[in-house]
Amino acid sequence: MACLFRRTIAAKLSRVLQQPEELLLPALSAVPVFRKQQTPDFKLLVSLLRLNGILPITEDIQLQTEDLTRQLKPDTVVEDISAGSGAVNFTINRKLLIQKMLEPFESESNTTFGLNSELLNTLKRGVTLVEYSSPNIAKKFHAGHLRSTIIGNFIANLKQALGNNVVRMNYLGDWGMQFGLLGAGFIRFGSHSKLKNNPLQHLFEVSSSTLSAKTCSVTVYVQVNREAEHNENLRQEARDFFRKLEEHDAEAVSLWQRFRDITVEEYQHVYKRLGVHFDVYSGESLHQSQALEVVQQLQSRGLLKTSDKGTGVVDLSSSGDMSNVCTVLRSDGTTLYITRDIAAAVDRKERYHFTEMIYVTDKSQANHFQQLFQILSASGHPWSESCRHVPFGLVKGMKTRTGEVVFLEDVLDEARTRMLHNMSRAQTTKELEDPEDTAEKVGIGALIVQDFKGPLLSDYSFDWDRILQAQGDTGVFLQYTHARLCSLLQKNEDLEAAHFDASLLTEPSAISIVQHLLRYDEVLLQCSQDLQPKHLVNFLLKLCHLIAAAHRELPVKGSPVQVAQTRRRLFRGSCSVLANGMRLLGITPVHKM
Ligand code: ARG
Repeated sequence: MACLFRRTIAAKLSRVLQQPEELLLPALSAVPVFRKQQTPDFKLLVSLLRLNGILPITEDIQLQTEDLTRQLKPDTVVEDISAGSGAVNFTINRKLLIQKMLEPFESESNTTFGLNSELLNTLKRGVTLVEYSSPNIAKKFHAGHLRSTIIGNFIANLKQALGNNVVRMNYLGDWGMQFGLLGAGFIRFGSHSKLKNNPLQHLFEVSSSTLSAKTCSVTVYVQVNREAEHNENLRQEARDFFRKLEEHDAEAVSLWQRFRDITVEEYQHVYKRLGVHFDVYSGESLHQSQALEVVQQLQSRGLLKTSDKGTGVVDLSSSGDMSNVCTVLRSDGTTLYITRDIAAAVDRKERYHFTEMIYVTDKSQANHFQQLFQILSASGHPWSESCRHVPFGLVKGMKTRTGEVVFLEDVLDEARTRMLHNMSRAQTTKELEDPEDTAEKVGIGALIVQDFKGPLLSDYSFDWDRILQAQGDTGVFLQYTHARLCSLLQKNEDLEAAHFDASLLTEPSAISIVQHLLRYDEVLLQCSQDLQPKHLVNFLLKLCHLIAAAHRELPVKGSPVQVAQTRRRLFRGSCSVLANGMRLLGITPVHKM
């Protein structure tokens, strides 16, 4: 819909500037809405036309802007054209604007609004592989893994909505010395019957409450890590166990497999609560033997050098003086994290023929991925150009009431408990079928919005009270607005009508919402370019503020039928876009709260 107007304006410009519309469209954008201030609908940035060589770079850009404005004549669609500062402003005929923007919401919910826009259709489509979450089995899950999980899920959702075939991959840290420790620990302190009945509790789970109670037996994970600090014998046993694993010793492998299965099953349960899923559970272990082949190939390409310490390295320095090397082989002949990553990337390309691959991890791995892409490129894989790392900052202070976060599940439980508590204080739980489920969805939405509001690269401090506020820019506010709209729509179901009279919607608070919706496809385009969810989050928060104002000023009940019908259509459109946007972010909109 927004495109329709953009096209009309571009055609007008094309006639005056004698340039194809395609060249002019990128300089046109919907104007951000300010409350209590009327704004035009679109603006043309004259600076962009100058940058693209469409207009000469003269001394006075304002003069040029005014000159161009004078040559453009308003018509029945574009009602007003005026010169702003360095920009030409366009205002669409009000009735037409409202008619066209609200038309798509004839059916109860429109889940594709904006997605088929001409603007988004210019994007290349293909197979997008998104690798995210990727926790380390037998090591701690940390807040970074939660961030990776929700960010990766958002990117995958977005890419899918934009028409790509998406492969969602979880690359488990399922190999390494930690399995030596866990294996040796299990042989010493473990029990097969406990592993069978209560696997996770037995292996890993430990919350401070169980520790302080001192009644429960401490888990294998805790015990072995504690012991290993001062027990060289145990450390030797761990090394032995891991060596056996590398040599494919049947017993060691079967124990490892059980540890892995147990953990994956547990994660799946939590991912389900988060509304996240994976098409593939891959992992470092799967690329063990391929990693050795990688080393051989690097050697045959003349890329493998031996360092003073006897390790195998690739020289990545531009001058070839070994001032920047990447180790791919230990002196004992075993491979490293990066070696497995090289093998994994090549394997994925062959298997999935991706057109782009996106890795989501914290920023401490930025160098790792840079080296990975460099080595891939040097090894004759031009597709390394289509690989991208999305780095994110640290979360500080993510704690639960009982202390440190050990499992992802702890965070979700905490979000749910706190939200439930807030809801019962506000006495909203009584009408809900399943208050716990609602609290969970709202709580998760709050976590996501807090995480996505700023640039991903920024660190932030976690604060439960702040993220769960019902007012202010939080996920709770998005959910609350959505639930309120659902209730309004439901209460006025009798006003459901195929037709509405666009001329009845003239109030500034209504116009602002419609103008804001003009930006939706531009916002998605921005997200898909820099892979930052903040554009969408801020768009939705703004939408909710505009909805709140319209809700106050434009009552549906009690208004003349045709006015009420038209207002209801406005709220229905807002509700659809809000819900669609929330789903892209990975939030399940609630209908009541
Ligand atoms: N398991 C790793 C970690 O927790 C993240 C894996 C990232 N992906 C990769 N292909 N290296 O640090």
